[in-house]
Amino acid sequence: MTAAIIDGAAVAARLRSEITREVEQMVAAHGVRPGLATVLVGDNPASQTYVRMKRKACEEVGIQSFGHELPADASQEEVEGLVRSLNADPAIHGILVQLPLPGHLNEEAILNAISIEKDVDGFHPVNIGRLAMKGREPLFIPCTPHGVIVLLEEAGAKFEGANAVVLGRSNIVGMPAAMLLVHRNATVTICHSRTKDLPEVCRRADILVAAVGRAEMVRGDWIKPGAIVIDVGTNRVDDPAAKRGYRLVGDVAFDEAKEVAGAITPVPGGVGPMTIAMLLKNTLRGAELAVSQLA
Ligand code: GUN
Repeated sequence: MTAAIIDGAAVAARLRSEITREVEQMVAAHGVRPGLATVLVGDNPASQTYVRMKRKACEEVGIQSFGHELPADASQEEVEGLVRSLNADPAIHGILVQLPLPGHLNEEAILNAISIEKDVDGFHPVNIGRLAMKGREPLFIPCTPHGVIVLLEEAGAKFEGANAVVLGRSNIVGMPAAMLLVHRNATVTICHSRTKDLPEVCRRADILVAAVGRAEMVRGDWIKPGAIVIDVGTNRVDDPAAKRGYRLVGDVAFDEAKEVAGAITPVPGGVGPMTIAMLLKNTLRGAELAVSQLA
């Protein structure tokens, strides 16, 4: 069996063209152009790349992007002060503080300082708390896990009663992805570094979401025939034949897995483009919230 390849780049492109249209409608109807502020602290090269990609994507759909960069030794007060000034700025409908922050900063306090109406990452404790509870609605859903769900829907996943296994329990991906799957009535197992018999647990998964950050850890024989596999990992592995000296691989050994799974995302071109598309969607939603408060 050869799996269907879930084309995240194509789904994200479709979403971006819908967002472009909706942004122009908002400008025409309300004279409001959605705006996203990015906050980058320090000089982590991967974070710089991600923020650059996010800002470029904003500009391509007509969302204004306001970049703020602080030095690696910025104080807690400086970062929180910047967040508070962005909270008060009516041109800004979304605030994204790129993670990870330098170790001396209190991440929780900084995320807590973001107005929940502008929390386009969905990382504010109130938004995460609402996501964790039955019958409560967060204002924003975290971008990568939301992208995972959209790709599962695209692949025709039946959530109700499905065995879903999430590898990884990070605040950014694993834990919120598990909560979104529970909301859709899947039976969810969250695996982590202490999980016993990991291959065996994975083999029970109708839906497998891998978000551990370990290159090609999930082998083909860990996968239930016909399962839908979403690979969130983006890992660099040395490759002297590649122009940059490395190539990107996921957490799943793709060539093996595609022979067993029913559908699978590639890396790159799977979840990655969806994260940014969901951020744009959340920023548009932030602007809609602001417009509805003006009315
Ligand atoms: N670091 C890795 N992923 C993310 C993300 O989705 N948002 C932010 N703010 N930081 C990240």
